[in-house]
This record gives sequence, C-alpha cells and structure tokens, in this order.
Amino acid sequence: MQVTGKIDEIRQWTAQARAEGKHIGLVPTMGALHAGHVALIEAARRRCEFVVVSLFVNPTQFGPGEDFDNYPRPFKQDIAICERHGAAVVFAPSPSEMYPRENLTWVSVSGITEHLCGRSRPNHFRGVTTVCTKLFNIVGPDVAFFGQKDAQQAAVIRRMVADLNMPLEIVVCPTVRQGDGLAVSSRNQYLSERQREDATVIYRALQEGRQMIESGATDARQVRARIEAVMGRVPAMQIEYVSLVDPETLEDVERITGAVLIAVAARLGPARLIDNIMVDSG
Ligand code: PAJ
Repeated sequence: MQVTGKIDEIRQWTAQARAEGKHIGLVPTMGALHAGHVALIEAARRRCEFVVVSLFVNPTQFGPGEDFDNYPRPFKQDIAICERHGAAVVFAPSPSEMYPRENLTWVSVSGITEHLCGRSRPNHFRGVTTVCTKLFNIVGPDVAFFGQKDAQQAAVIRRMVADLNMPLEIVVCPTVRQGDGLAVSSRNQYLSERQREDATVIYRALQEGRQMIESGATDARQVRARIEAVMGRVPAMQIEYVSLVDPETLEDVERITGAVLIAVAARLGPARLIDNIMVDSG
C-alpha cells in the first residue's frame, strides 16, 4: 500500500491504475477509522480493483466552536487499518495542500442542506460538498462510497453529483452499529462510560418509531412525540431535532404514506450524536 499527502503523486498513481484498466473506488474519510469506515473500504474492494482511502479532517466543514482542533487523528493506526483491509493507496493531505490559498470557490447545494443538521451547522454542507468535489477531481474515482449513518450528507452528495453531471457513481452503505444498537462513530470516543450507556437510548427510540409506523401510525407528530419521550428518559440528552422526512428531498413529512427517514440529532455531554433509520410504511 502506498501513502501520500501530495496531490501530484496521487494523480499519477490513479492515472496509472486507470491506464491499466482498473476501476477506482474512493472512500472519503476524516480518519479515526472504525468499523463503519471499514465496511465502506470492504464495499469498495468488492466493486473496484484500486481503492483509495482519503484521510483529511476538513477545516471548511467545521463551524466556530466545533471540534476541529480536538478531532482525533490516530494517523498510524488509520494507515494500519487501510493496509489490513486492502486499500491500494491512502491520500492524507495537509490542510495547506488542500487549501493553499484563501478558498474563493465553493460548491453549495441549496434546499436539502437547509433542513436537519443544516439548521444548526450553517456552512457545514458547503464545506463537505466543496471538499468532496476537490477529492473527486483529484482522485477521479469511478465510484465513491458513503455511509447511511450521515443520511443527509449522502443525499446532498447524490444530488450534487446528479445536478453537476459529475462522472462517478455514489454508493451508500448501511449504518454499522454496535451490539447494543449505537451507531459507530469517531465522536463516540468523546463519551464517558455513563454517557456511552445513555447513548443507546437513541437507537431504542428510533426502533419505537419504526414499530409505531409498522403498526399503522400515519401521523408524523405522534411518532415524533414518542421518540422524544423515549430519548427524554435520559435527562442528560439534549435533543436538537427529531424529524420524519422524505428520504430524497429531506422535507418534513406530516402524513406518513411511503418511505420515511427518521433522523435525530442530540447532544450528550461533549458529543453531538446523529442517527437515522429508514422505514417503509407501504
Ligand atoms: P467521516 O465522519 O470520517 O465519515 C466517513 C464516511 O464514513 C462517511 O460517508 C460516513 O457516513 C461513513 N460512516 C461513519 N460512521 C459510519 C457507520 N457507523 N456506518 C456506516 N458508515 C459510516 O463524513 C465524513 O467523514 C466527512 O464529512 C467527509 C465525507 C469525509 C468529507 O470531509
């Protein structure tokens, strides 16, 4: 496996792989790799002969007061995980390699970025879409792999690629969970043992929402109220939103008729946690 932080170098390597007729798969990450990332790398390996994993804690998607400085950066461990799971190349640029001058050019998707996490994280998705566009331009992947864990991010990236005719396919992989249902996340390591235990209420609450819909509930308000009540059993949990939305437009649904995405965000001590499930009432 090769590792580089240089754009010129990664371009050369992917150009060579392409010339050899290999399909290029890209797994964009911010490092601190865990089982969720590994599932993406493995999905990429099944589809593509040449898998690139990017490790880059992207400053432009963090707001003031967010965890950019504290975000974990276990570089050596990340490299070992990529190697073990068969990546061909790791691309780990420095911030100045990716943003050598003041960035004046942004890719921003309107509408679907304004709901859910967009409400409390203005400019977050603009940072994500801009860095993903840069990574797509640098690596030139045939396929890029994202996780359903960040459902809004996946929907925004899909929409950007469709709207701008970007020449690649986006694959979205299921959320990897721990045995007790908690979605695996790099930010879980901010939690104390007690908070880690409390965090399991999020998935239990989502499951109650699923059961209500599967038993015929159609009023989104009622489902939302139940989920909030279950999460409210943990006093330390500060709910940011519980939303039932259309899986594509991410607009709030009032009457549940077909597929619905239940998405939640909550703050627990030092961590902001998000999770979601898709439910099909039909
Ligand atoms: P990061 O949080 O490192 O996540 C990288 C990818 O892993 C994302 O597509 C995310 O949805 C996926 N992922 C995280 N936890 C997962 C889980 N439990 N199951 C399945 N997939 C999971 O998301 C980002 O980085 C950044 O915004 C990025 C896209 C790299 C742009 O900077």
